[in-house]
Amino acid sequence: MRKAVVFGTALAVALAGCAGVAVAQNAGGEAAPAAAGPAGPPPGMPQPITMAQRPGVIGGEALYVEYCIACHGPNGMGTGLLQRAGRPEPLLEARGGLPAQFIITAARNGIGNMPAIPRGEVSDEQLQAIADYLAAGPHAVAGGA
Ligand code: HEC
Repeated sequence: MRKAVVFGTALAVALAGCAGVAVAQNAGGEAAPAAAGPAGPPPGMPQPITMAQRPGVIGGEALYVEYCIACHGPNGMGTGLLQRAGRPEPLLEARGGLPAQFIITAARNGIGNMPAIPRGEVSDEQLQAIADYLAAGPHAVAGGA
């Protein structure tokens, strides 16, 4: 009988320990999304910039948001690599004095780790508009680097 009590107590302590771990894991936040519905990015992940964040943009700026900002936004790998390369302003939009022709050549041929962007993706007219927009910088970028 006494043995049973001791065993029971040990079991209760062990179970309580497990429950504590489970509670601690849940306390970490909404880490475990239910299988149903889209999980979304983990909390704290930088959100990609899309037209939704910059409604109302037009012309070269809109094309830049569509085709370039995934890599050249504040958290983009293009911005990161340009920062590592020591550019005074790694955000292309916030940089002044970028010649349009340099932008066009870089985008068409690729540059360093940036892949070439073919005409099937961005037409000459569209790239010209993007280059004119960037060359007219520096632009004030909301929520920039
Ligand atoms: C797939 C990601 C990606 C996309 C999309 C992208 N870029 Fe880039 N871009 C990069 C990376 C990475 C670099 C840095 C290259 C290096 O130095 O290795 C770069 C560098 C550049 C540079 C050179 C800047 C400098 O100071 O040397 C220009 C100009 C540029 N990109 C323009 C554009 C334009 C315009 C677009 C849209 C039409 C665009 N990029 C889209 C990744 C991208």
